[in-house]
Amino acid sequence: MTAITQPEIEQYCQSISGESEALKALSAATTERTRYPDNMSGNLVGQTLKMLVAISNSKRVLEIGMFTGYAALSMAEGLADDGEIYCCETNPRAIEIAEEFFRKSGHGSKLKVLFGRAMDTIPSIEGELDFVFIDADKKKYREYVDMVLPMLKVGGLIVVDDALWKGGVLDPQDERDQIIADLNQYLADRADLENVLLPVRHGLHIVRKKS
Ligand SMILES: C[S@@+](CC[C@H](N)C(=O)[O-])C[C@H]1O[C@@H](n2cnc3c(N)ncnc32)[C@H](O)[C@@H]1O
Repeated sequence: MTAITQPEIEQYCQSISGESEALKALSAATTERTRYPDNMSGNLVGQTLKMLVAISNSKRVLEIGMFTGYAALSMAEGLADDGEIYCCETNPRAIEIAEEFFRKSGHGSKLKVLFGRAMDTIPSIEGELDFVFIDADKKKYREYVDMVLPMLKVGGLIVVDDALWKGGVLDPQDERDQIIADLNQYLADRADLENVLLPVRHGLHIVRKKS
């Protein structure tokens, strides 16, 4: 996938940004044991999420699209001991790898995997959310945003991954480009939200619920 930033800059940022031994091991296992390791978010996104979770003092987190758990484990590292992360995923093989590394990491008790389509499993979550990371099934991004906004506390954050999708948002050529471009505009236009769209990896759109 085309990088948004120059590859040398991206690599330099990766090399300078942190990554725990547990995350390095998970990244290596994902590369060895899965067919599409590029699905993994990686350390720039992971460390950004960890930082946001920590500085927002988030306790109740939802991830839509866990894959092998790289972002989930990154966020767990930034989360207080009594925090919890609900992770939606449909792929049993990815879940097996994630759960193996969650157990080894010492953060396993914070991570709760919800197996099945996110649209079906999210309604089982009770109580308010502080933080949501959306990283699955781009065609449904808008539906996920509309579903989780009422569950999010005022002051809570939503982070949407792949918000610059190969740069296609500049001149949408297919349905996926258009969906992402429309979602970015929708988030920017809403009076009840504050937003910033950052060129981190494939684009992170960070949104705060103001009211
Ligand atoms: C880009 S990957 C997620 C990467 C992950 N966030 C990470 O940090 O490595 C997207 C994941 O979403 C999952 N997925 C796709 N459709 C889904 C759905 N409707 N509900 C839950 N998970 C879904 C896929 O199986 C895939 O593992």
